[in-house]
Amino acid sequence: MKTLDDLETQLGGFAGRRVLVRSDLNVPLDHDRRDGAGQPVITDDGRLRASVPTLRRLLDAGARVVVTAHLGRPKGAPEAKYSLAPVHARLAELLPGVEVGFCPVTVGAQAMAAVDALADGELLLLENIRFNAGETSKDDEERGAFADELAALADAFVSDGFGAVHRKHASVYDVALRLPHAAGGLVATEVEVLQRLTAHPERPYAVVLGGSKVSDKLGVIDNLLGSLLGEGDRLLVGGGMVFTFLKAQGYEVGKSLLETDQLDRVAGYVRTAREKGVELVLPTDVVAATAFAADAEHDVVAVDAIPADRLGLDIGPDSGAAFAARLADARTVFWNGPMGVFEMEPYSHGTRAVAQALVDGGAFSVVGGGDSAAAVRTLGFADERFGHISTGGGASLEYLEGKHLPGLDVLS
Ligand code: 3PG
Repeated sequence: MKTLDDLETQLGGFAGRRVLVRSDLNVPLDHDRRDGAGQPVITDDGRLRASVPTLRRLLDAGARVVVTAHLGRPKGAPEAKYSLAPVHARLAELLPGVEVGFCPVTVGAQAMAAVDALADGELLLLENIRFNAGETSKDDEERGAFADELAALADAFVSDGFGAVHRKHASVYDVALRLPHAAGGLVATEVEVLQRLTAHPERPYAVVLGGSKVSDKLGVIDNLLGSLLGEGDRLLVGGGMVFTFLKAQGYEVGKSLLETDQLDRVAGYVRTAREKGVELVLPTDVVAATAFAADAEHDVVAVDAIPADRLGLDIGPDSGAAFAARLADARTVFWNGPMGVFEMEPYSHGTRAVAQALVDGGAFSVVGGGDSAAAVRTLGFADERFGHISTGGGASLEYLEGKHLPGLDVLS
């Protein structure tokens, strides 16, 4: 993958060059709360902060930076709730001293005029790229035609939206075929970390998986048990997905989340782990509640005593301690997915126990993006206390599944 330095050399310097940067600015918004300017509140700006260094690097070198990004999953047409306007406001705050403009369209004459008006060291954020159907089209020609329009806005392309590199989208993939390009600093770092997790990781290697659905994690479990984890390594499972594991072990799980169609597959995982000497660590107790609500009646119960009318919303304290103990001497840890409904205080303790174990331990610890990254920040852990907090949930999982990611392949 070419670096920013390589691209700078290729272009004979960034000064005066129009550089299109694909960033991942897909941040969670709370539409029920408004900031001083009347915009929905960004509840976790981690992806914006992670995107700033590459933008700074280009701006400081005198580039005219055009940023393209998505927010949510609009269906190829403008929708106010998916506007990048709130992101624009926060990005401007994160880049003091820089003229940060916002273009309410993505391509065409209006976008071109806005790009033409940029001076060296100025930045223009284009409106949500997914407001245009060409961005996500499965039709190569339609996507390519849109990529032509995007490419017309710039002299070079920098791919820095790691969270979207698993998408074969115009602004991620096709535009790189049309312009001199490089990986931005964020993508380069994320790939370095993922390589460290997959090629010769220090062992014991522990992987913590959580989140609601086991069906979202099948690919990664296949690859973990197939090749990445071996004798003496550990796979710790919590979150909603664990109830399918518990049921496959013969426990009754009451009204907890259960994917009955995955029971056989999960039972197979239990067998494979045993055969390979991978320690599969499941909770021994859970917090069982009468309803999916913070104020519902709830108790800690053993996994063999989950009442029929309750649902498990967190791993219990004994399990939190046991998980922490299995992480304490690990040398490498990858964590994706919260252990419980961390947004509700009574069910946040399992997730907190895992986060605390990572910051206390000596492992190279990587927190997968999305919910897990939001969880550690919501619970008050500073980013610097972990080896790396990925900006890509789906992207890092697909990498760990051993899949080819179009947005990385095209840069190689
Ligand atoms: C993410 O949130 O994981 C990335 O921004 C990608 O978003 P997508 O899953 O909608 O493509």
